Amino acid sequence: MKQQNLKIAFIGVGGIAGSYRRSLNQLERPIAAVCDINAERAASIATEENATAYTDHTEMLQKEKPDVVFTCIPPGAHTTQVADAAAAGAAVFVAKPVAQDLETANRAREAVASAGVINQVGYMARYSDITAKAKELVGDQKLTMGIGRFLTRMGANHPWWGKYDVSRGQMVEQTTHVFDLIRYFLGDVDSVQAYGIKGVSDGIADFEECTVCNLKFQSGAVGSITSTCVARAHENFATELVGDDLYLKLTHDSGLRGQISGEGVDYTGTEAGYFRQVEQFIKAVDANDQGLVLSSYADAVKSLAVTLAANRSLETGQVEEVIA
Ligand SMILES: NC(=O)c1ccc[n+]([C@@H]2O[C@H](COP(=O)([O-])OP(=O)(O)OC[C@H]3O[C@@H](n4cnc5c(N)ncnc54)[C@H](O)[C@@H]3O)[C@@H](O)[C@H]2O)c1
Repeated sequence: MKQQNLKIAFIGVGGIAGSYRRSLNQLERPIAAVCDINAERAASIATEENATAYTDHTEMLQKEKPDVVFTCIPPGAHTTQVADAAAAGAAVFVAKPVAQDLETANRAREAVASAGVINQVGYMARYSDITAKAKELVGDQKLTMGIGRFLTRMGANHPWWGKYDVSRGQMVEQTTHVFDLIRYFLGDVDSVQAYGIKGVSDGIADFEECTVCNLKFQSGAVGSITSTCVARAHENFATELVGDDLYLKLTHDSGLRGQISGEGVDYTGTEAGYFRQVEQFIKAVDANDQGLVLSSYADAVKSLAVTLAANRSLETGQVEEVIA
C-alpha cells in the first residue's frame, strides 16, 4: 500500500544524501526537513526540496516528529543521531559505516531494537540485481571462499575521508561494502589478519593506502579482501565466490560471470542497488515489515566489527578475533 504522507527528514545533506534524495524524488516521496551542521548547505538543500532547514538534529526531531530519518554523516560524526531518531519513533536509514566505533554503534543498535523501528543501512550492493541473481544461483550450496577488492584513487585533500580520526581508514569507510557483501554470502567472520602500507601517495590519506585482509568465517570458510585508495583499476569493486565446482564473480555494478557444475553463468544486471535500496526501505516502512530489509542496523554493526578488527590487526600484526 502506498502511503504518500510519510514525513521524511535528513541528518547530513552532503554527497550520498544527494543519491538518496534523487531516489526519494523518483518515488515521489517529499522530504519535509533537513539538518546539517553546515547552515548554508542545510538552507540550500531545504530550498531545493521545499523543506525546513535545521542545524541541530534534536531540535528537528522535536519540532518535526518525522516518520523516517536518513542519516548521511561521516563515520566520526556519529554520536547519538541514530539512537535519538529511533527513540523519537522514526524509521532509520543509515549511510554506511554505521559509526567509527562499536560503543556508539551498539548504543544505537540497542535504541533501534527497543524502539522497534524499521531500520536499514545503505549497503546498496545487497540490493543489486547481480547479487539477487548470485543468491538464487548459490541457493543452499556451501561457499568455502570469498575474495573481494575495492581499488580506487581518492582525490587528495578530501575534507575528512583521508583522516583516520574521522573515517577510520579505507577498510572501515569504503571497503566495508565488500566486507559486508562477502558476509552476506558467507556469514559471520571469526577472525582476521591484515597488512598494510602507508605513505604511498601525497595528500590522500594519513592511514594505510594499500591493505590486504584475510578472513576466517564461523562456517570454516576462508576469505581475502584487498583495498587501495591510490590507484584507478578496471573492475575496481568486485567479489568472487568459490565452492565445490562453483565460481562466481560479481563485478559491481553490473556483471555476474562464472561456472556452476560445468554450466556457464553470464548475466548482466541493470541496477547497482542505489535506487532499489531506497525503494525497498520505503516499502518496508509502508508495510511496517522489517523482513523486507536485507541490511539491518544490527547486521551492519557486525560488518563494522570485522573492519575494526582488521584495523587492530594492522596495528598488532597479529590475528585478531572479531568482537561485536
Ligand atoms: N555508496 C555509498 O553507500 C556511499 C557513498 C558515499 C558516501 N557514503 C557514506 O555516507 C556518509 C557521508 O558521506 P558523504 O560523502 O555524503 O559526506 P559529505 O562530507 O559529502 O556529507 C556529510 C554531511 O554531513 C554533515 N554533517 C556532519 N556532521 C553532522 C552532524 N552532526 N549533524 C548534521 N550534519 C552533519 C556535513 O556538514 C556534510 O554536509 C559516510 O559515512 C560515507 O561513508 C556512502
